[in-house]
Amino acid sequence: MDNTLLTLRNRRILLGVTGGIAAYKAAELTRRLQDQGAKIRIIMTRSATEFITPLTLQALSTNPVHLDLLNPDTESAMGHIELARWADLILIVPASANFLARLASGHSDDLLTTVCLAAECPVAVAPAMNQAMWAKPATQANQKLLVSRGVHLLGPDHGIQACGDTGAGRLLEIDRLILATSELFDSGELTGKTVMITAGPTREAIDPVRYISNHSSGKQGYALAQAALDAGARVILISGPTQLAAPDRAELVSVVSAQDMHDNVQSRLSETDIFVGVAAVADYRPKLAQNQKIKKNAANKRTLTLEFVENPDIIAEVADSVPKPFTVGFAAETENIEAYARKKLIEKKLDLIIANNVANAQIGFNSDLNETTILWQEGKVNMPTMSKRALSEKIVTIISQHIKQRI
Ligand SMILES: Cc1cc2nc3c(=O)[nH]c(=O)nc-3n(C[C@H](O)[C@H](O)[C@H](O)COP(=O)(O)O)c2cc1C
Repeated sequence: MDNTLLTLRNRRILLGVTGGIAAYKAAELTRRLQDQGAKIRIIMTRSATEFITPLTLQALSTNPVHLDLLNPDTESAMGHIELARWADLILIVPASANFLARLASGHSDDLLTTVCLAAECPVAVAPAMNQAMWAKPATQANQKLLVSRGVHLLGPDHGIQACGDTGAGRLLEIDRLILATSELFDSGELTGKTVMITAGPTREAIDPVRYISNHSSGKQGYALAQAALDAGARVILISGPTQLAAPDRAELVSVVSAQDMHDNVQSRLSETDIFVGVAAVADYRPKLAQNQKIKKNAANKRTLTLEFVENPDIIAEVADSVPKPFTVGFAAETENIEAYARKKLIEKKLDLIIANNVANAQIGFNSDLNETTILWQEGKVNMPTMSKRALSEKIVTIISQHIKQRI
């Protein structure tokens, strides 16, 4: 597989299909994006269903196609806000002249425009229409307005059209669309940098069969590893036990205990420009890990007392090292989120801290979503609820901006 396209692996692409003669090409695009490892969900406008059936796209994407905004059944299954949050990218192929006009004027009168308006992720449009429609001042004004607001314009191409005309307005070839889509994920913001990320929980042994751990899934750390890779970084991922597959191209170091994690972090620190401690590291471990399994009712005792000792503070040691990598921490809190996070930022001499409320079961530990506040010495930014992948990209952008300010 072409290296560039690895950026599509595990990407959540919400494909919007609008009513144009090129709508049938959305079928091929769906299959080809999936071949690159992308996850596809599809919204069709009502007009699009006149050109290609939802059944075709449903069969190819292996997910129900979303059509309606005001349908209680579909809204309760996966509502418009959920769809908007799910997506790493909204890709409209083909984008009709009518859709460009509605998007430019901020309409939210069907599912696709509403999701575009509700989304925090990037939006890309691939227009396809008759050359005269594309050339019209109204369409030109609309596409320029959209681009000025950050919408990515893919195409259109120039050539012979379905109606027999020749000119600008053809949908980009599928190969070029796929390449352009993969490039949208490749920001190059961390090119030349080595990023070390710790992820997942640690396990602290009690005896050969038991341990103390926590609910960290590793999802946020792994998503961040992928985002850093996509931004051009070399990534060392030091991970506690998780159920996740490490992103391709990440150098995975599997560890179990906090001490293990600490030792591996220290041994690779001299290679590291940016350190991000996402792992939920146990603060304490049993003082003595028994060599043999502890027996029930040993010495007829009804209680069992374990003595704990403090684990090394991995991130504080990193932030104290000379030279110090740009150091980013996470603060998973259940109350006074921002105050605790700022205290941790200052006490541990971090450059950035990402605070989240793990008491909310909808977000945090095991969820695919996260809602955070990112804090640094002189400021902060609140991040609304979004996918851990989308959040990771924002974090990467903020890290790269801070690093540039330092130089
Ligand atoms: C046969 C036929 C082909 C069409 N092809 C296109 C097209 O390629 N591009 C376009 O912008 N509109 C095209 N239209 C017009 C759109 O279908 C129409 O503007 C529709 O309202 C678009 O709805 P939507 O933007 O909600 O999907 C075509 C219409 C017909 C009848």
